[in-house]
Amino acid sequence: MFSATVLWLLLAPAAVSAAPLTALTDCLTSSAVPQLLTTNSKYALAIKPFNLRLPFTPAAVAQPTTVAQVQAAIACGVAQNFTVTPKSGGHSYASHGLGGENGHLMVDMKYWTNVTVDSSTQIATIGVGSRLGNVAQALYSQGGRAISHGTCPGVGIGGHVAGGGYGYISHTQGLAMDNLVGAQMVLANGTVATLSATENPDLFWAIRGAGASFGIITYYKFQTFAAPNSNIVYSYNIQFTAANYLALQNYANTTMPAEMNMRMFITSGGLQLEGIYYGSQSAFQAAISPILSQVGNPYGSTSTMGWIQGLSNYAYMSLTTPIDYDIFSKSLMTVAVTPAAAAAFVAYYQNTARTVSRDWYLIIDLHGGPTSAISKVPMDSTSYAHRNALFKYEFYDRVDSGSYPSTGFSFLNGWVASLVNARKKRGQKADGCKVPTTTFGMYINYADSSLTADQAHNSYWLTHYARLSAIKKSVDPNQVFSNPQAINSK
Ligand SMILES: Cc1cc2nc3c(=O)[nH]c(=O)nc-3n(C[C@H](O)[C@H](O)[C@H](O)COP(=O)(O)OP(=O)(O)OC[C@H]3O[C@@H](n4cnc5c(N)ncnc54)[C@H](O)[C@@H]3O)c2cc1C
Ligand SMILES: *[C@@H]1O[C@H](CO)[C@@H](O)[C@H](O)[C@H]1NC(C)=O
Ligand SMILES: *[C@@H]1O[C@H](CO)[C@@H](O)[C@H](O)[C@H]1NC(C)=O
Ligand SMILES: *[C@@H]1O[C@H](CO)[C@@H](O)[C@H](O)[C@H]1NC(C)=O
Ligand SMILES: *[C@@H]1O[C@H](CO)[C@@H](O)[C@H](O)[C@H]1NC(C)=O
Repeated sequence: MFSATVLWLLLAPAAVSAAPLTALTDCLTSSAVPQLLTTNSKYALAIKPFNLRLPFTPAAVAQPTTVAQVQAAIACGVAQNFTVTPKSGGHSYASHGLGGENGHLMVDMKYWTNVTVDSSTQIATIGVGSRLGNVAQALYSQGGRAISHGTCPGVGIGGHVAGGGYGYISHTQGLAMDNLVGAQMVLANGTVATLSATENPDLFWAIRGAGASFGIITYYKFQTFAAPNSNIVYSYNIQFTAANYLALQNYANTTMPAEMNMRMFITSGGLQLEGIYYGSQSAFQAAISPILSQVGNPYGSTSTMGWIQGLSNYAYMSLTTPIDYDIFSKSLMTVAVTPAAAAAFVAYYQNTARTVSRDWYLIIDLHGGPTSAISKVPMDSTSYAHRNALFKYEFYDRVDSGSYPSTGFSFLNGWVASLVNARKKRGQKADGCKVPTTTFGMYINYADSSLTADQAHNSYWLTHYARLSAIKKSVDPNQVFSNPQAINSK
């Protein structure tokens, strides 16, 4: 049906971009950087995102195994004008490991899986391609050591630590990045930089909260701790009411001890109050009783486990099988939620969320407060901007097969709005002129693809954005490393 001219016009754009694409793969070839060509049978898996809703096609896929190859890959990207994007575990909810859009040079760090504990300093050197499940097992097998990290075994340590890294021991031991004492990173100009409190301290500050924007990290160094041997795993069914929500907010802000780690796991079916306490049964009973009596003395269960068993209990899958869904996810970090906002938030659950039949959930972690190891780290000592947030929320809506519906986004956007809007209204009423100037924060590790670059910058990094922007301008003025929500993205 097409005339030859129309056909030529349709094909022309592809023909024009073919030349630089070839130049990029040629450059990688002549620089001896291992790469996966589209014809390779492993290519499809290498670019498969965790979030199947957001597939992107890179311009080329490099798979370096040495620092020199990482440098050479970056140099090829720069020479051929491609944005360069490191990928470690590929678990970004917005597929930022693929670049968050088409056409990046993806540097796949999957082969960087070394986990080695120095037996005299107990400092672990961990390659960025290691997955959390493997990290936990490797550390434990080297003298019963551990670091703080998230729950899902398939998540890559590379992206996880760069954004924070919250899990079942974070209230006790801080975020994954709070255990960090150093890192190696290759910069846009090819420099191999060692980062620590004393070497490149600005960059070390920046990568602890915004690491994805500054270069390619090759390994991290963590101060490990002895894995706790008494892990009390507990779960109680409570009602999702505004009163219970406020009681838990107050608990996080007052008597919840450092050893207690707790979250609300909310589905259409109800609310599970669950977590792990690190200590004895009697200490656990003393710590949990006050809050249980406030939320209706619920029915529950507890059991004592070892460290690895406790982690596996919340992994919900084999430690070696990453799974994929079509998902839409959002987050929030709240410092103080008023009774009016809590009521609006719970009403949205009752009236709207419970009518949505998709496989959604909401997790609210008791993240901060006076005893939390996260809040004890000074607010401005890393670029993570949420240390004062009592609660951390992960909203997660998914379909297990088929595509996420275009009508789906308004469900979670509406839930977040129920809390944010109620808070604004109250602020205006309270004193006539002052609307709260602080924005609710959001967590980059639960990247929300519906945010614009400006919204992302302001919500992910709050008051730390200006300093991040200045550091980015000095180490990567040409945005060699970027994605639609990265520092200084437009
Ligand atoms: C099933 C699941 C469970 C999760 N559970 C938790 C949890 O319990 N707690 C929590 O805090 N988070 C959790 N997350 C979020 C997770 O921490 C983030 O998605 C994290 O960014 C994933 O890192 P990655 O290396 O797997 O992802 P990637 O997609 O590979 O990378 C994510 C981002 O980091 C950048 N990046 C990757 N490697 C490097 C590197 N070497 N140097 C510099 N930048 C790099 C990428 O460019 C990208 O922007 C979970 C995610 C999923 C999908
Ligand atoms: C890269 O961009 C610069 C500046 O726009 C241009 O001068 C140069 O020719 C480009 N290089 C390639 C290989 O396209
Ligand atoms: C992993 O670490 C060990 C011990 O430091 C070292 O011998 C080995 O070469 C490392 N392997 C890689 C791939 O870095
Ligand atoms: C938390 O405690 C502080 C100090 O007592 C208080 O100022 C603040 O209002 C409390 N926050 C909430 C949400 O109750
Ligand atoms: C590369 O960038 C870093 C960080 O900005 C800088 O310290 C270093 O001098 C640069 N190296 C070269 C060779 O330009």
